[in-house]
Parts: sequence; structure tokens; C-alpha cells
Amino acid sequence: MSIRFLKESQSFFLTAGDSSYVFKLHENNRLVSLYYGKRLPPCDLSHLFKAQPRSFSPTPADAIDPSFSPDATPQEYPFFGNGDFRLPAGKLIFENGSFISDFRYVSHTIRKGQEAIPYFPQTLGSAEDCETLILHLADETAGMELNLYYTVYENLNAIGRKAEWINRSEKAVQIDRAMSLSLDLPDDGFDFLQLYGAHCKERHLERTALHHGMQSVESRRGASGHMNHPFIALARPDTTEEKGEVYAFHLIYSGNHLCLADVDQFDTVRVQCGINPFGFGWELAPGKSFMTPECVMVYTDAGLGAMSRTLHDLYRDHLAPSAYRNASRPIVINSWEASYFDFDEEKLFQIIDSAAGLGIDTFVLDDGWFLGRNNDFTSLGDWTPDPVKLPNGLTSIIARCKQNGLQFGIWFEPEMISQKSKLFELHPDWAVSVPGRPFTESRHQLVLDLTREDVQNFIISAVSDILNQYEISYVKWDMNRHITECYSETLPPHRQQEFSHRYILGLYKILETLTNAFQDVLFEGCSGGGGRFDPAILYYMPQIWTSDDSDAVERMKIQYGTSLAYPLSAMTAHVSVAPNHQVGRVTPFTTRSDVAMSCSFGYELDPRKLSEEEREEVRKNNQYYRQIEPLVLHGDFYRLLSPFEGRTCSWMIVSKDKTKAVMWYFESLTVPAPPVKRLRLAGLDPDRTYHIAELGQSFTGAELMYAGLNLPLLFGDFKSIRYTITA
Ligand code: DGJ
Repeated sequence: MSIRFLKESQSFFLTAGDSSYVFKLHENNRLVSLYYGKRLPPCDLSHLFKAQPRSFSPTPADAIDPSFSPDATPQEYPFFGNGDFRLPAGKLIFENGSFISDFRYVSHTIRKGQEAIPYFPQTLGSAEDCETLILHLADETAGMELNLYYTVYENLNAIGRKAEWINRSEKAVQIDRAMSLSLDLPDDGFDFLQLYGAHCKERHLERTALHHGMQSVESRRGASGHMNHPFIALARPDTTEEKGEVYAFHLIYSGNHLCLADVDQFDTVRVQCGINPFGFGWELAPGKSFMTPECVMVYTDAGLGAMSRTLHDLYRDHLAPSAYRNASRPIVINSWEASYFDFDEEKLFQIIDSAAGLGIDTFVLDDGWFLGRNNDFTSLGDWTPDPVKLPNGLTSIIARCKQNGLQFGIWFEPEMISQKSKLFELHPDWAVSVPGRPFTESRHQLVLDLTREDVQNFIISAVSDILNQYEISYVKWDMNRHITECYSETLPPHRQQEFSHRYILGLYKILETLTNAFQDVLFEGCSGGGGRFDPAILYYMPQIWTSDDSDAVERMKIQYGTSLAYPLSAMTAHVSVAPNHQVGRVTPFTTRSDVAMSCSFGYELDPRKLSEEEREEVRKNNQYYRQIEPLVLHGDFYRLLSPFEGRTCSWMIVSKDKTKAVMWYFESLTVPAPPVKRLRLAGLDPDRTYHIAELGQSFTGAELMYAGLNLPLLFGDFKSIRYTITA
């Protein structure tokens, strides 16, 4: 039983794996947070909260204890206007213009498991996996109900939280702020971890000391974005990969987000995550409800590695589409860096022919295959094969793939429209714009208004038509710009602030409809690389193109950072050519393969240009990848050396039963007189003996983890080492 209500202390005791989360009913049915940390046996923790007289912290009229002030009380889901001056979790605006709310506990329900809700990405679990606590709160004056959800995973240190408003009054209410989670922690002795980035530089890890006031990451781009990932963690300053306390928060949402930590006057921290209140509003009509996205929180005292492994297990087993949880992934060759827009049928035939016999499973035809698409100025929206480049449509290409033992995949960017397109001629009103203002283009393209049902239906049928017509096993779903002129002609003026969230709800509806209709197709997420790499996309698509930067050295940082929150199988990583197309760097083929191979694997190059030696390496790599794929899909990931801290990087994967492992070590620029690198491995069984194939030697797990191995000195830049470890 993960959720208990302890009657005597009137407290809720939630146990998620090795963590406990406790709060209680305080006087007049206020919810006061007591504890979030290492697992405790159920006990009365009421002593952890005592009201203190504090100046400038008001006492509400109904307080029994005259020292009580919401301003100095850790709360579950705080509001503004009656004593707490810190950031509210929610803000409602009522007909008379007031924006004061006061929600109190009314009752609660405990349910087994967490079931799917239509068009709503969230973690899911059976009755054995998790329990969900629903706290029913009410603001009697406003006639509003608020339900707070806590989905508590039995064997994982993870709790999913979301909030739902129901308007029980007879008047419409405006939701102005609706965070998924608010958490008050009793001290501020933390570092703030975030994953910042840019196009081609996604999810770089940054760690700074928490300070008074607010530290936050947010998106106003209409997408989760390359720039600020909807993930933050608070780690003790001495927390490392292997030990120490950390609290992680990850929002399952693809749109505008806000994740923050605010340190107050008493050195306590308030953490909040949810839809970004900037540019957000929602009119809640009488009888209607509004559900926030789910935010996952994880606590561990076993370091950042354990935090990541918890998220990896949670996402692999309870978030990613079930058909792909255990399924082997195709090794893909993607046409983008091989030919960009410059191809015809004959060139594709040659590429396909030369990809044969290498152990590659799927050829993915990227951008450029549809009506007149010879560059990025035109054609988005016209999803029929270009008769000039492909006189036989996709049929001949697919047949050629088949002859060569390959499956076929295809690229779409369904949310977009080019001004030079047949679709725009027919439906200029479908492009997102503000009446009377010019379009702002990005990559010469506009965004379709996904809030509209006719647009949603168009996208569903355009993609379905191609998938029904051809034998396609893989779809790469791209999104190459962010949203400006946020506005929909179909919404009345006072509801325009709903646009950005409605866009995302429209997207989820489209994705759910298509992924349900085409369950044998593997959908890969993409947004100019990893610009919409978020847990909600992972709910629909088991893997996401991690970055447009395919350079091995840049990818070390990107994959290391991404692994903070995502399992390896969620990241697509391809071997590309040298000099690299994004940064011009020349790296050895082996290093490029080694970096890509710890993720969902593939190639982003022209196979016609591979030397015989490289072709042989590709064959061997693909065989090796198949050997270690169970580790990539199901293993425990250990980060050993951070590329953010020096010129080396290392990580390893260990099978759950600790009988198999693979370790990679990478160096960027070489140095003269290098120190001997002694590397300690992790995650092994200290009492077992392990054989390292590449060394032809055996060691105990204890030796490998506590004493470590002296790595050979490497000559030259950008070299890698790989060890295959078997018990
Ligand atoms: C951006 C993607 O990330 C690339 O891989 C490629 O698909 C291009 N778009 C095509 O336009």
C-alpha cells in the first residue's frame, strides 16, 4: 500500500519506492506539507510543523492559532490573497474581477493504478504498479472544486502530480495560473540543476547554487524548445552521481512551460512546475473542468545517477508506448545528411542499394519527397510525392528497399504550411496569424492552427493517406519553427490566451489518433533535432531525434545531458560523416559509432561514399549493436565522467541482473604527457567475476568498481575505448 491516511495525526503518508511524502490536515482543513525525503515507516510527523509568530505575515480570520500565517507555512497547493505572499500555484479570476481564492480540503479518494485519459500524455500504471490519491478541495465562496492528484509508484521513487479544476458555480471563471505541482521544502541548501541549450546544442547540464529569489526555466515558444528543458532538480551541494540527496521535477508537456525554485525570506524553497502562466488563460464555463499536465517528481539520497535511473525506469515502463517498451528498434539510415533536398529516384535507388547488406534495417526518406519541395521555401502541407523527383511515387522506392531487405520510413512536418503551397492557396486562413498583422516566417514557413478541428482532421487524413497507401514502418515527425502571432480566428477575443495550450491539445489529439490507427508504425519525434524532446512526445513516440548536431564530440554533451532525465532508448543517435556537417570537426569513424551506439542507433550519411573499410566497420558495428541492444533498451545507465567537467567522458550500461555490461570512454582533444586515467566502473556486483573481452582479462566487480582500471594512453584527438563486460 503506497498511500495511507493516518487518522490519528490526520496525515497523508505516501511511500514511493525508497521515498516518503507526507502532509497533513491542519486546522480548518488547510493542507500543510510536512516531509519529502528518504522512506520512513508511517509515523506522526506533526511535530515538523509549528506556527511561529512572524512579522508582516498575516493571520487569516479563521485561524485558531494566532501565530498561524500561510506566509510561513509549507503548503501543498498555495493561493494568493489571504496571507501567503509567495508565488501561488493557481490563480483564478472571478466575474467581479477578484483573484483571491481559498481552497480547503473536503475529502479524498484513493484509487489503484493510473489509467489513460484521452489525448492526455501521462504516466500509466496497473493496480500493482501504483496508487493514486485524489484530494478534493473546494473554495466555497467561489463555487470551485480543485482536485489534486498524486500517483505514487510502489517500486520507484516517483510521484506524478497534477491538478484539476471543476467549475461548480453558475458563472464562468478565468484560470490565469495552473501549476501542476507546488512543493515547499524546509531549507535552501541546494544547487539548481537545469538543462539549457540551443538548436544543435540541446540539454546541456548547468548547476548553480540556489539563491534568494527565483531561479527558473521557461518556454514561450509554443514548444518545449531546445533552449530550456521542462526539467529542474535541486541537489545538495555535495551530491554526486553516486550519492547525495536530489529532488527532480519533470513536466510531461510539449508546450510553454515554467519550472522554478523560489527561496523566500525564511530560507525555505518553493518549487513549481506547470504550463507557463505567460500568455496563458482559460475560460472555465460552469460545469466544465480543466486538467493540468502531469509533473513527475523524484527524490533519492543516492545521487544523480539514481535519480536518472528512476526516471529511465518510469518512462520505459510507464510512459513510452507499450508496443515499443520491449521491442527491438530498427537500425535506420536517414537520407537527410546524405542528400538534403537534392535527390531523384535514381539517386535514392543507389543509396538504398549501397545500404544493403550492412545490417541496416530501415531506409528513412527525409525532407524533400513531396510536391515541389526542392528547398525549404515551399510545399509544406502538400503531402503527395513529387512527380518530378519521384515519377513512380513512393512505390518504386519502397520496392527497391524491399529488394534490398530494407523497410521504408518517411519524414513529415505535418504541423506546418509554406506560403508557396497548394494548401496555402486553398486555406490561407489555416496559418496561425493575427488579423491585420504580417506573418513572421521562420525557416520560410508558417504554422497551421492546430486548435481548429478542420486543421486537425486535415493533418490526420493527409498523414493517414500516405500511411494507408504505402508500406511504411517508420515516420519521422518534424517541427521546424516556433510559434509567433499566437492567435486563432476560431476563438473569441477573451479566449485568445487559450491558444498555445489548445495548440498542444490539438497536437496530442492528432498524435493519439494516428499512433492508435497505425500501431505497427514506429513514430520518431523531431523538432529541428531535439527541440520538442519532452516526456509528452515520448508518450506517443518511443524515440526522438536527439539533436541536429550529429558531431560525436557535441553529442557526448547532448546525450550526457539528455540522459539526466531520459532513457537511452528514447534518444535517436546516428553516425554521420567527417568533416561533420554542423561543426566541421573530423573525428574517427569508430568514435562516431561508439557515441551513437549507446542510444537508438542508425546512420545519417551517404552509404555510397563509404570506403570498403568503413563498410566493414558498419557491418561489425551493427552486429555489435544487436548484441548490446538489450542493455540499451532495458539496462541501468551509469555516467562515469562528465564531458561538462573536462576533456573526457565515460558512461556504461549494466543489465538489471548485473551479468552483462558495456562501458565507453571518450577523449576530446589530446594533451601531451597525459596523466594515467584510472576509471572506476559502477553498477556491477562486487562479488562476481567479470571478463572484459577487449582486454582478455577478468576482474572482480569489487576491483572494477573500487580500484578501477588504468585505461591505455590514447594517441590522437577524439578517441574512444569500448569494453564488453560479462559476468
Ligand atoms: C530538421 C531535422 O532535425 C533534420 O533531421 C531534418 O529532418 C530536417 N529538419 C529536414 O528539414
